[in-house]
Formats: sequence, C-alpha cells, structure tokens
Amino acid sequence: MAQIFSRYADQSLRLALVAIFGGALALMTIGGILVRSDYTTLKGWVVEQPVPFSHQHHVGGLKIDCQYCHTAVADSALATLPPTETCMTCHSQVWTDAQILEPIRQSLARYEPIRWNRVGALPDYVYFRHDAHVHAGVGCSECHGRVDTMPLTRRVETFQMQWCLDCHRDPAPHLRPRESVTDMSWNSQQDRRELGERLMQAYHVDARNLTDCNLCHR
Ligand code: HEC
Ligand code: HEC
Ligand code: HEC
Ligand code: HEC
Ligand code: HEC
Repeated sequence: MAQIFSRYADQSLRLALVAIFGGALALMTIGGILVRSDYTTLKGWVVEQPVPFSHQHHVGGLKIDCQYCHTAVADSALATLPPTETCMTCHSQVWTDAQILEPIRQSLARYEPIRWNRVGALPDYVYFRHDAHVHAGVGCSECHGRVDTMPLTRRVETFQMQWCLDCHRDPAPHLRPRESVTDMSWNSQQDRRELGERLMQAYHVDARNLTDCNLCHR
C-alpha cells in the first residue's frame, strides 16, 4: 500500500497541480470573455417556456398581428402578454387534443394564468414606455428583432443603457411610418435618414432631451 502510494504520489501531485493551474488559467480567460460577451446580457439566448409558443408559426406563418396578443402596446407603457382566453379563441378548435397545449387547457380550467418567463426585462429603476416609441414610429423589430422567425423567443439586443442612448442620440434613421411598426418585413424604398427626418417633424419627435438622465431614471 505504502509502496504504491509513494510510487505514484509524486506524479499525481504534479498532475493535480497542472490541472489546478490550467483550470484557473482557463477560468480566467473564460471569465474575461464572459464579462464582455452576450452571456451577461443574455443577448441571443432562448428562454424556456411552460408552453413552447412559436412566434414563427403564429406571426410568420399565420400572419397574426402583434396587437392581437400584445393589446396594450400602442396605448400604455406595457405591451402586455395575452391571457389564456386569447389562445383559446383558436385552440378550442385547433390542436384541441395536443399534449403540448395541456398547460393552456389547465390554465383555463383553473383560472390560473400561464406563467411566461420573461425574455427581456429592464431593472425596476429604469423608466420605459411602449406607447411613446410606437407613436414615434419605432418598429417592434428595432428592439425585438425578427420575432416572426423565432420558434422560441430570444433577446436580440443587450437592453443596456448604451444601447438605448445610441438610438436616443440620433433616432431619425430608426423611424418608419406609424402604421408599419408591427410589420416585420417592412423595408423602406427610400433613404432612411431623409424619411426619418420628415417623420420626426410629422410626429413632433424632439430629440434634444432624449439623453437626459431623468428621462429614464425618475
Ligand atoms: C398569438 C399571440 C401572439 C402574437 C400574435 C404575438 N405574440 Fe409576442 N408573445 C406571445 C406570448 C404567448 C409570449 C410569451 C412567450 C414568449 O416569450 O415567447 C410573447 C412574448 C413576446 C416577447 C417577449 C417578451 C418578454 O420580454 O418576455 C416579445 C418581445 C414579443 N412577444 C413580441 C412580439 C411581436 C413584435 C409580435 C408581432 C410581430 C408578437 N409578439 C406577436 C404571444 C404573441
Ligand atoms: C388565430 C389562431 C391562433 C391563436 C390566437 C393561437 N394559436 Fe396556437 N396555433 C394555431 C394554429 C393554426 C396552429 C397550428 C400551426 C401549424 O401547424 O403550423 C397552432 C399551433 C400551436 C402550437 C403547436 C406548436 C406550433 O407552434 O406549431 C402551440 C404550442 C400553440 N399554438 C400555442 C399557442 C398559444 C400559447 C397561444 C396563445 C398565446 C396560441 N397558440 C394562440 C392558431 C392559433
Ligand atoms: C424602443 C425599443 C422597443 C420597441 C420599439 C418595442 N419594444 Fe417591446 N420591450 C422593450 C423593452 C425595453 C421591454 C422590457 C420592458 C420592461 O421590462 O420594463 C419590452 C417588453 C416587451 C414585451 C414584454 C411585456 C411587457 O410589456 O413588458 C412585449 C410583449 C413587447 N415588448 C412587445 C413589443 C411589441 C409588439 C412592439 C411593437 C409594437 C414592441 N414591443 C416595441 C423595448 C421595445
Ligand atoms: C431604436 C430607437 C430607440 C431605442 C433603441 C430606444 N428608444 Fe426610447 N425613444 C425613442 C424615440 C424616437 C423617442 C421619442 C418619442 C417622442 O418624443 O415622441 C423615445 C422616447 C423615450 C422616452 C420618453 C417617453 C415619454 O413618454 O416621455 C423614454 C422614457 C425612453 N424612450 C426610454 C428608452 C429606454 C429605457 C430605452 C432602452 C431600454 C430606449 N428608450 C430605447 C427611440 C428609441
Ligand atoms: C434612454 C434611457 C436612459 C438614459 C437617458 C439614461 N439611462 Fe441610465 N440606464 C438605462 C438603462 C436601460 C439601464 C440599465 C442597464 C442594464 O441593465 O445594464 C441604466 C442603468 C444606469 C445605472 C446603473 C449602473 C449601470 O451602468 O448599469 C446608472 C448609474 C445610470 N444608468 C445612470 C445614468 C445617468 C447618470 C444618466 C444621464 C447622464 C443616465 N443614466 C441616462 C437607461 C438610461
């Protein structure tokens, strides 16, 4: 026993040291990358949901408008998520036996809303309003990307302060006609800056105060 121990101890100690230092080095490298990477901002990450709801099928395929489900988006701070009844207007007729929709049926039977996991929430100390952006002609896709191509919803922007400010400093090239904000495939045939400058005037968008701290921190 003692012999085996002494014969291999030195070697395994050396191996252990290599493993520890190698591991520490690898961790430091990975850590350094992570702080700057999408890992910390959750950008690009898919969020698991109680029901695998697909915008690709419902928006891209069935062409249902965003506001059918996110009813408050043009009139209030929140876009809101649809109640189970909204799903049931169709799913009491189609896919009625599908196992995948069982949580929806349970939710209706028990009067308990589905608990969707948030994809892109801001911290509480940040003030944000959807209606102001919709009225100024900022398309949903500017901030949420092409959700019509997403089988599961993921975050495409960092939602960090710098990202907000980048647009607030110069919003013109991000604007489109109001009636097209939910149109995922809208593509201007015109010069975006020229169009944007015109829309800023038409919609009375004043970019002068858009970087004031108390606009977003009240
Ligand atoms: C048939 C209903 C329906 C339609 C139509 C719909 N959505 Fe959704 N949306 C949902 C449901 C349900 C969720 C919650 C599950 C999820 O995150 O995928 C959701 C979640 C989201 C989220 C993630 C919110 C978060 O932070 O948790 C965004 C962003 C979003 N929708 C944008 C859109 C946009 C933009 C459109 C139109 C192009 C649209 N949705 C159309 C039902 C719908
Ligand atoms: C306007 C009608 C309509 C509404 C509203 C609707 N669905 Fe659907 N849904 C469909 C149809 C049609 C299919 C079959 C799609 C296919 O096979 O391409 C479907 C399919 C599904 C599927 C199966 C997987 C998939 O995406 O094909 C799930 C899960 C689902 N819906 C969840 C929901 C949820 C959750 C809601 C409410 C937030 C909802 N649906 C609202 C029409 C609707
Ligand atoms: C200027 C960027 C921006 C635009 C434009 C925008 N959103 Fe959002 N959206 C956000 C942010 C930021 C959040 C997170 C808000 C929070 O957590 O307080 C969010 C959250 C959501 C949510 C989650 C529920 C909620 O209200 O918090 C849904 C659904 C949503 N957006 C849908 C839409 C739809 C549909 C449109 C287009 C009509 C749209 N958004 C346009 C930035 C935007
Ligand atoms: C793609 C462009 C864009 C992005 C990204 C954007 N905004 Fe805005 N935001 C605007 C425009 C344009 C206005 C001006 C609306 C007006 O004056 O009518 C605005 C106005 C606002 C207002 C004023 C609302 C009011 O009622 O006074 C707040 C608050 C705000 N944004 C917060 C945010 C926050 C927080 C973020 C980041 C999470 C953000 N915005 C990201 C374009 C953007
Ligand atoms: C257009 C909206 C907007 C404006 C204007 C804005 N902020 Fe922020 N701020 C944010 C958002 C969004 C976050 C959350 C960032 C995150 O979650 O990473 C934030 C976070 C912060 C934080 C927390 C620490 C951090 O960086 O994450 C501080 C401190 C802060 N802001 C200070 C300021 C000051 C000072 C000003 C004025 C010079 C300002 N902000 C203007 C949107 C804004």
